Amino acid sequence: MTLRITVIGTGYLGATHAACMAELGFEVLGLDIDPEKIATLAAGKIPMYEPDLAELLVKHVPGHPGSSGRLRFTTSYEEVAEFGDVHFLCTNTPQKKGEFAADMSYVDAALDSLAPHLKRPALVVGKSTVPVGSANRLAIRLAELAPVGEAAELAWNPEFLREGFAVGDTLHPDRLVVGVRSERAEALLREVYATPISDGVPFVVTDFPTAELVKAAANSFLATKISFINAMAEVCESAGADVVQLSKALSFDERIGGKFLNAGVGFGGGCLPKDIRAFMARAGELGADQALTFLREVDSINMRRRSRMVELAREQCGGGFLGRRVAVLGAAFKPNSDDIRDSPALNVAAQIQLQGAQVTVYDPKAMDNARKMFPGLAYAASALEAAEGAHVVLHLTEWQEFRDLDPADLGAVVAERRILDGRNILDDAKWRAAGWHYRAMGRPSVE
Ligand code: UDX
Repeated sequence: MTLRITVIGTGYLGATHAACMAELGFEVLGLDIDPEKIATLAAGKIPMYEPDLAELLVKHVPGHPGSSGRLRFTTSYEEVAEFGDVHFLCTNTPQKKGEFAADMSYVDAALDSLAPHLKRPALVVGKSTVPVGSANRLAIRLAELAPVGEAAELAWNPEFLREGFAVGDTLHPDRLVVGVRSERAEALLREVYATPISDGVPFVVTDFPTAELVKAAANSFLATKISFINAMAEVCESAGADVVQLSKALSFDERIGGKFLNAGVGFGGGCLPKDIRAFMARAGELGADQALTFLREVDSINMRRRSRMVELAREQCGGGFLGRRVAVLGAAFKPNSDDIRDSPALNVAAQIQLQGAQVTVYDPKAMDNARKMFPGLAYAASALEAAEGAHVVLHLTEWQEFRDLDPADLGAVVAERRILDGRNILDDAKWRAAGWHYRAMGRPSVE
């Protein structure tokens, strides 16, 4: 009989995982404690912007023409426990207020709510990004609470999906990592992932702490790579060198590779910043803090990018922001997403506004979220509208739409043709040819 799968917590990770499990052919029941979220998903809609996800929901939730009907949603833990053979925990682990550590309360609450209902054999699989040691702790809790006893087991299976590519990354991941304690757990997870495994996706079987650490290590490596090139950008600026050429030259070395080597305003989002901080906090608890002190530097380099962008904008405004108009292109923390969590673009926009400029923001997808979080900023319906009367235009999230802008069109509405490229991706020759002063981070300034 085909496995029945449940997904607990239907945020970014959970909603995507649930839809993808249905796509792989399983009967799926998604649970969230937020009834509004459940109603939205059950209607085949998603509460965020994520390419391909809404289409996948419509393909599988009942009630849509031609749908498989394999994907349903509920708010009842009892129903989930009765239904599922494999339960994926996909709740979030935000940064604790005022601390670096991860807030485990949502994961703990999910396990505590599910376990007492487990009357039939089940595999509970953690997917959330958690401090190393959590799986062991949760396994003990599961054993204490599940009426079915040892037939309820835990496994850990970290998720590596990127926002904007969540569906593709879930169906065709780079690798699958599973932390297990029994052959039965491994066999069940091999069954869940039979399709990607048969497509050749590497399946790495480890113990609990290694599986948990793979995720922390992967995100730390990515953050370090970005901060490395941003540190090079700082040196390039001092030395009059060009970080874009430097990065390109480095990328031909296969040991280094070109991905995650784009200098600019740095990383943001709901994962990298909080994950490296939680990792440092956990290493401290384990007495291994010295091993990760470099991550503090990675974090500082990253945060310095934002202040540097504010300084560059001030320079472009003639030394002060008072009475100046600044257009900000981008609000999401990266393109193809409406996620504004710890977004460098909005952080820079808010800092400049606080220092006296009038800042107008435009983003293709993140306007509603940005408005809610930063109601004091002005918002425009297009890049052109945002640029009206601007003394400087800041390009802070690299949407394709901004790359496609015609510098002449924008030039016709601004007060001054000055553009700061915070992502080092616009065609500088094209902008300069249209009479713009183009300045980027870590590249020589051409007057
Ligand atoms: C990240 C990891 O990539 C993913 O594997 C993990 O599961 C969750 O965290 P995500 O937060 O979706 O995914 O974003 P990612 O694509 O990694 O980008 C993170 C940030 O780094 C963005 O703000 C992006 O603009 C920035 N970035 C990325 C750079 O500044 N330079 C680069 O070269 C690459």
